[in-house]
Amino acid sequence: MRDEFVHSAKLAIEAGFDGVELHGANGYLLEQFLNPNSNQRTDEYGGSVKNRARFVLEVTKAVADAIGAERTGIRLSPWGMASDMAHYPEIDETYAYLAEELQKIGVVYLHLVDHESMGAPAVPAQTVATIREKFTNTLILSGGYTTLEAIDEALESGRADLVAVGRPFIANPDFVERLKSGAPLAEADQATFYAPGPNGFADGYTDYPMADGQPAGTFSPSYQA
Ligand SMILES: Cc1cc2nc3c(=O)[nH]c(=O)nc-3n(C[C@H](O)[C@H](O)[C@H](O)COP(=O)(O)O)c2cc1C
Repeated sequence: MRDEFVHSAKLAIEAGFDGVELHGANGYLLEQFLNPNSNQRTDEYGGSVKNRARFVLEVTKAVADAIGAERTGIRLSPWGMASDMAHYPEIDETYAYLAEELQKIGVVYLHLVDHESMGAPAVPAQTVATIREKFTNTLILSGGYTTLEAIDEALESGRADLVAVGRPFIANPDFVERLKSGAPLAEADQATFYAPGPNGFADGYTDYPMADGQPAGTFSPSYQA
């Protein structure tokens, strides 16, 4: 399985990508190893925090060795509950350990998910602060960032080095320009998430207009003036 991650990472680099993000969040395979509710193993990959983190760290190390730690990032979702990942007592201990070990591997970034804005429990501030302390490469925060003020606060307070934005980019192809100009943001229509419409995945993904009413793909920064 480790080899499959390595193989895919190498293919991504060969295809011209700058790097890969390992998906250790939201109930995907790597998180299934971290969480004792899904990881019922009795070998060295299950049981203790260290054992449950082993697979994630082995995959990360193998990918970093293959393509370079400077091309390897990872996404994690402490306190996340996506895909029925129930909470467990050692969540903070697990992520503090991971942050420390990921720093030793030297991955270029750690990307934290907070899905409070999607109805999940918030990631406690102390959890983020501990990870921040132990992981000193680039820390990315994501989830619910829709204003310049919130993004600036996360960056200027030092809580994050970068902020990632999802849904606002779906509904606002010119999201950055709208933040700069103060143009109002359109809301993404949840009904078109995750499912194709009559026009395939274009529906609800690439059909939101720019702030000036032009279709996406015909970007003209003129409305900023
Ligand atoms: C349509 C859609 C698909 C998504 N697919 C994934 C996914 O495959 N893996 C993942 O980790 N997060 C996925 N997410 C979650 C986003 O990456 C992000 O964490 C979430 O939207 C919160 O950020 P936001 O408030 O900026 O949108 C998806 C979100 C949306 C709206």
